[in-house]
Amino acid sequence: MKPQFVTLEGVEGAGKSTQKSALCHWLRARGVPFIETREPGGTPLAEAIRGLLLHTDEDPPTALTELLLMFAARAQHLETRIQTALAAGTWVICDRFTDATFAYQGGGRGCPWAWIETLESLVQGTVRPDTTIIFDVPVDVGLSRAAARSEADRIEREDAVFFERVREAYLRRAEADPERFIVVDGTPPETQVTEHLLATLATRWAL
Ligand code: TMP
Repeated sequence: MKPQFVTLEGVEGAGKSTQKSALCHWLRARGVPFIETREPGGTPLAEAIRGLLLHTDEDPPTALTELLLMFAARAQHLETRIQTALAAGTWVICDRFTDATFAYQGGGRGCPWAWIETLESLVQGTVRPDTTIIFDVPVDVGLSRAAARSEADRIEREDAVFFERVREAYLRRAEADPERFIVVDGTPPETQVTEHLLATLATRWAL
């Protein structure tokens, strides 16, 4: 099997980070070589852009600036890290990728889908994740979990209506491409979510 590019998505508090650790543990036990990374970020420059995106409260970016910065970080990350890893036969497990841009900047901020598609083909060419796992939870559940966890960053401080649009955009994307997406209900206890996820992946990948 060719090295897989796997992305994890979901609204805040959907359980992405916990399930990412479980997935990485499972891959390691099967001897799969992989790197773990995230967006925005994943390289020193892209992490610096992440800081600008999430922690600039004075002179916050406009929707278009936010969109362009997401793709600037992505261009750096994709070329210098993701593609290098895949070319070397290493899987890439990435916490968020372009589906987050469709969900947050598209659904949440209302940037036209066509702008995002244009930037996607400019920055990525034909590169797309092989598998995208969306952890889906009702917005109120996700937000109360996120609030209990840490101080909210600039984007996490948006209201529930914003996150309803984000969630809806994620589910719309999943519906349009059932081959690539796996939607996992993130509401049950963590161990149950992990069990369900790993059972699904075991049937998808011959490891
Ligand atoms: P995290 O909370 O998963 O670390 O992600 C950081 C934030 O960045 C999260 O609020 C979602 C947001 N984000 C976007 O708005 N657009 C994107 O393209 C990506 C990758 C993340």
